[in-house]
Amino acid sequence: MSIGQDIEQAAVILSRGHLVAIPTETVYGLAANAFNPDAVIKIFEAKNRPQFNPLIVHTDSVEKMEPFLNGFPDWADKLAQRFWPGPLTILLPRNEIIPDLVTAGMPRVAVRIPEHPLTLALLRSLDFPLAAPSANPFGYISPTTAAHVAEQLGDKVSYILDGGPAKIGIESTIIGLGASGDPEIYRLGGLSLEEIESVIGPVQIKISPVESNPESSGMLKSHYAPKTKLVHGSIDVLLASYAHRDPLLLTYKRMHPGYPSDRQLVLSPTGNIPEAAHRLFSALRELDDRGARLIIAEEVPDQGLGRAINDRLRRAAG
Ligand code: TXA
Ligand code: MG
Repeated sequence: MSIGQDIEQAAVILSRGHLVAIPTETVYGLAANAFNPDAVIKIFEAKNRPQFNPLIVHTDSVEKMEPFLNGFPDWADKLAQRFWPGPLTILLPRNEIIPDLVTAGMPRVAVRIPEHPLTLALLRSLDFPLAAPSANPFGYISPTTAAHVAEQLGDKVSYILDGGPAKIGIESTIIGLGASGDPEIYRLGGLSLEEIESVIGPVQIKISPVESNPESSGMLKSHYAPKTKLVHGSIDVLLASYAHRDPLLLTYKRMHPGYPSDRQLVLSPTGNIPEAAHRLFSALRELDDRGARLIIAEEVPDQGLGRAINDRLRRAAG
C-alpha cells in the first residue's frame, strides 16, 4: 500500500481492476470500477461487507451518469444543479449497464458527484464511474483522513489518494423517490434537511432501524460504531446512571463541570454545528483508542447538520 497524490497512478490501478481509497468532502471512499464486477467484489471483501448492502456510484458529471440511468426526474435535476458537486446522493432508476452487485440487485442506483479537487480530477480522467462505500471495515466509524484508512484497510488497498482531512466529515445525505411518489430522505448527512427543502419543498424522512435487508444501510442499527460501548443523550442524566463505569465524555460545546477534563473531549468550543460534524468521527476514534469501558456522547441541537450528528450517535449506541 502507498499513500500519495498521484492521480495517474490511481487511475492505472483502478483501470486494472484494483481498489483505491479516494478523498471526498464527506468521508474517504473505497473505490473500484463500477462497471467491473470483478473489481467491485473486492470492495465487499476488503470491508467484510454483506453483499445485500449496495454501493454509491460516483462520477464527475450528470452526463456520465446518463448511460446507466433510466431518466433524471425534475426534482432530482433541481437538487443536482444546486448541490452537486456536494454531499448529496440520489437514488434513481437504473439500467443493466450497472452490475447487480453494485445495487444489490435493486432497481435503483445511488449516484453522487463528490466535491474534492483530487477525486474530481481522477473521475474526469476515467472512462468509467467509481463505486465507493466509506473506506472502513463494515459497521465501524467512517474515515475522515488518509491515516484512518491506512490504519484499518492499509493491507487491503493498493493506493490511498491523500486529499487531507474531509471538509464536512459526515457521509452524504441520501434521497430517493418513495412509494408515495414523493422524494424521501433515507439517510441524514452532510447536506441538511433545511437546505434540501429550500429547493424542493417539504420532504419526509424515512429512516427506520430495520436490521435485515435494509433499503439503505444507513438503516442498519449498530453502525458507524466505535468498539467501546456508547450511550447518547443528556450528560447529566447519563452520568447519574453510568458514573460508576468511569466513562469518557464526548460533549458538544463545553466541558461538563466537575468532571475530570482529561476524560472529556469537546466537539466545538464555539458551538458551531458544522465544526462538530467535521470533528465527530476523529473524536470517536480518539476516544475509542483509549480503551475505556463506556463513552457518553452528548446530544447536539437537532437542526442543520446536528440531525445527522445525532443520527450517527444514536446508531453508534445501537
Ligand atoms: O458520503 C458518502 O456517501 C460516502 C462517500 C465515499 O461518497 N459513501 C458512503 O457509502 O457513505 P456507504 O456505502 O458507506 O453508504 C451508502 C449508503 C448505504 O447505506 C447503502 O445501503 C445506501 O447508501 N445505498 C447505496 N445504493 C443504494 C441503492 N441502490 N438503494 C438503496 N440504498 C442504497
Ligand atoms: Mg459506510
